[in-house]
Amino acid sequence: MAKKSVWSDNRFWQRSAAWVTGFASILLIWLTFDTSVQIAMGTDADLQNGVTKRVPGPTVINYKITYEMSTARGHEVPVIGEKELFFGRDDYSEEEAGALLHLGKLGSQTKNCMNCHTLLGNGAYYAPDLTKAWLDPAWGPEGSMQAMTGKETKEEAMAEFLQHPSTYPTHARMMPNLGITAEEAKGLVAFLKHMSSIDTNGFPRNFGKIKGAVHGK
Ligand code: HEC
Repeated sequence: MAKKSVWSDNRFWQRSAAWVTGFASILLIWLTFDTSVQIAMGTDADLQNGVTKRVPGPTVINYKITYEMSTARGHEVPVIGEKELFFGRDDYSEEEAGALLHLGKLGSQTKNCMNCHTLLGNGAYYAPDLTKAWLDPAWGPEGSMQAMTGKETKEEAMAEFLQHPSTYPTHARMMPNLGITAEEAKGLVAFLKHMSSIDTNGFPRNFGKIKGAVHGK
């Protein structure tokens, strides 16, 4: 009788399937633990001691956030700088900052920002990516949004826009009024500021508005 080729042997394929499944399961479990550590949120003490975390603690809203090209990593990384005022204060406690972020997160869910925008890779591209919206120069001192909204700070301009977006159209498409209150807007801006401080490995790549960015203008 002719020897059966290994490629047509059922046992070979069964064993291969078992090995591949086993190996992939172990790899996935390991990756899950590795990711949990990487994305664990930092604390106020980390920020005060200059300990870099991919996801800084909520009190990062007390600090200036910028983006810098890292030649070692080949993309931009967020840089947490000096203290800066956020709605007139730079001394939010961990509880206060956490409560603001919580309010913003709930607001982003109830008003379904992801229906039009993308946040950290989730959502739609009908409207601009919000992952780094806080760093969009349009809201900074050289941008047009502060003058347009009649506000003197980035956070106030953004909060004003969020409450009355259709009053300040800047894009080919207009953001509808979503009935966002002043308090909700404050939470949402804190949420956006915190999100911009997250090290997302240079994502989104097409965030070309930041000066000095890879595809920057
Ligand atoms: C129905 C679609 C839609 C929804 C829902 C929506 N937006 Fe928008 N948003 C837009 C559009 C369109 C623009 C661009 C408008 C413009 O520039 O005039 C925009 C612009 C923005 C900007 C300015 C972006 C930048 O980089 O300058 C911010 C910030 C923003 N939206 C936040 C939010 C938040 C927060 C929510 C949820 C609470 C939300 N949006 C929900 C459509 C939407």
